[in-house]
Amino acid sequence: MKKDTKDMPKGVFKYLGDISRIHHRAAFADVQQKIDKHKGSNAFLELATNRFSCREFNHHPVSSFKLAKILEAARVAPSAKNLQPVHVWALTSEDALARIRPIHTMFNAPVVIMVGFKLSEGWTRACDGKNWAETDATIAGTHIALAAADLELGCTWVGSFDPKKVREAFPETEGYEIASLFAIGHPAAAAAPSERHSSRRSHHRISPLCYGIWTIPVLCRCFLS
Ligand SMILES: Cc1cc2nc3c(=O)[nH]c(=O)nc-3n(C[C@H](O)[C@H](O)[C@H](O)COP(=O)(O)O)c2cc1C
Repeated sequence: MKKDTKDMPKGVFKYLGDISRIHHRAAFADVQQKIDKHKGSNAFLELATNRFSCREFNHHPVSSFKLAKILEAARVAPSAKNLQPVHVWALTSEDALARIRPIHTMFNAPVVIMVGFKLSEGWTRACDGKNWAETDATIAGTHIALAAADLELGCTWVGSFDPKKVREAFPETEGYEIASLFAIGHPAAAAAPSERHSSRRSHHRISPLCYGIWTIPVLCRCFLS
């Protein structure tokens, strides 16, 4: 005959209740852990979303510790066949900054990083002769911009400079093609994202890239419109 739980001593019932609760929580924790593992952390997406081109800096210098971290982020960037054809120059002295500012104001940032590459050191794809050195430099630049954001520094990627003038101002870059400049510093109190920052293509225009050959017309439309 089934024993009525009313007859059970209160202490035992409480004890059983506790066990089932603990067991239930443990099972849930296990499932949650599995979900979290597949979900990953949001930290990277938050960093990538919150980063913006900062074009106003205050007068606080960038610590050598932070600069070293940014340069390390560039150093560990991947490159085609790991040939590492990228060279990075950090301009921090008044003399070096005075040489770049007539070419581009660099928004008066206290640190400017120049990223260059050597075609002859990059990997060339045999079937069509495509050289990946510039892509490698772009990846290093992306690491620089994201590392700066991670360190709560402001950064703007600058492509609108005359490479010939940079070569003349910095003869030490001889042999390298300068891909990009980065203005880096502490954001001024008034620094804010430009209107272009939040203007991004919607997911439905990007997602067709994930599928097959049939998406080529869609893909062309994305780039041409
Ligand atoms: C390859 C490249 C070159 C760029 N060149 C310049 C530039 O010369 N001057 C500038 O003010 N911003 C430049 N930018 C910043 C873009 O204008 C900016 O990333 C874009 O408008 C999106 O805004 P956000 O960075 O705030 O999200 C450049 C960005 C990239 C990726």
